[in-house]
Amino acid sequence: MAGNIVTPQMVADICNSGMMGSIPSGYLTLTNLRTFIKETQRLTSNDFIVNIFIEPDHPVTEKLAKPHAVRNIEVKLGLPDEDSFIYPASVPLMDYVDLLIAMQVRYVSTTFGFFNSEIVTKLKAKNIIILATVTSPAEARFCIANGADGLILQGQEAGGHQGYFLTNQCGRLSTLELLDSVNRLDLGVPLIVAGGIGINDIPKFLSAGAQLIQLGSLFMLTETSGLPHTVKEYICKCTNTSFTKDITGQYARGVTNLLMSELVNTLNYTFPIQHYATSRLRKYARDNLLTNYMALWVGKHANLECNSLNVLLEKIKASCLNYQRCQSSVIIEEH
Ligand SMILES: Cc1cc2nc3c(=O)[nH]c(=O)nc-3n(C[C@H](O)[C@H](O)[C@H](O)COP(=O)(O)O)c2cc1C
Repeated sequence: MAGNIVTPQMVADICNSGMMGSIPSGYLTLTNLRTFIKETQRLTSNDFIVNIFIEPDHPVTEKLAKPHAVRNIEVKLGLPDEDSFIYPASVPLMDYVDLLIAMQVRYVSTTFGFFNSEIVTKLKAKNIIILATVTSPAEARFCIANGADGLILQGQEAGGHQGYFLTNQCGRLSTLELLDSVNRLDLGVPLIVAGGIGINDIPKFLSAGAQLIQLGSLFMLTETSGLPHTVKEYICKCTNTSFTKDITGQYARGVTNLLMSELVNTLNYTFPIQHYATSRLRKYARDNLLTNYMALWVGKHANLECNSLNVLLEKIKASCLNYQRCQSSVIIEEH
């Protein structure tokens, strides 16, 4: 989860509990990513994943015109009017790859696309496991054909950005529907499901054929995440989530609020340019706890609760054990 939510302590605690934490590289400089990885490695000797955004190549930093709708909101909130914003140069993907290899990272995941064959060959030569986020059976086939070792199946209940990349429409399949359709492709790789999965839903997804479960929002709501406490409590009380493309240029699910409604149909740029166009506004809202103007990414869940990280990890383990117990009693009955 990119965006100052995940901390090295959170990743390490998850890894030390026998699960696998994920380091978000999105929006981080290489130096900050290196520090994040180093700090995580200091806190755990277990494996973790580093998640990489596959963004369009953007070699030079540019100054672009800020969309009027964004300027209007900024001025309404009391910010000085600014007619432009900075779209920074992107970090070349190969630089991330070299960093991961140098730091002996063993798992990498992608979102918004997949690596080219040069990168896949380089990662495989170092035995790095590549997991690809996909939102449709077509993306699943594409990533396996191009060398992915496992798939993260992101259903439309998922919080945050949808990782779609073969079309410019976000996936329409629910997490369970996506799992069913990819399962039928029989691709022979581990399937990890993500999107709106609550603690008590874990057995249902494992029974439906997922090998692993990925959870986001529930970890975001623990005390170890970088989100202010009042914002976490606010998110827990919000029952309505929507998809919006207007905040960053890529469909993402979050709490329905004024930022979404006031930017609706005003999109000026594609992802990630629109993300930078709305950055100052969202930072101001976050610093001042203006929840109506923050991007409050969260999944579609029947029940959201703020748990301590330890309690959450224990509840997840209990849910998995419950599944395993049911499985072994089925096997005993069959015999
Ligand atoms: C706040 C937030 C930030 C996220 N950032 C990323 C990210 O940087 N990379 C990524 O692959 N997925 C990201 N996701 C999506 C998650 O990987 C995952 O698909 C999602 O959290 C699963 O749904 P859930 O939140 O209902 O558990 C993010 C999700 C949230 C809620």
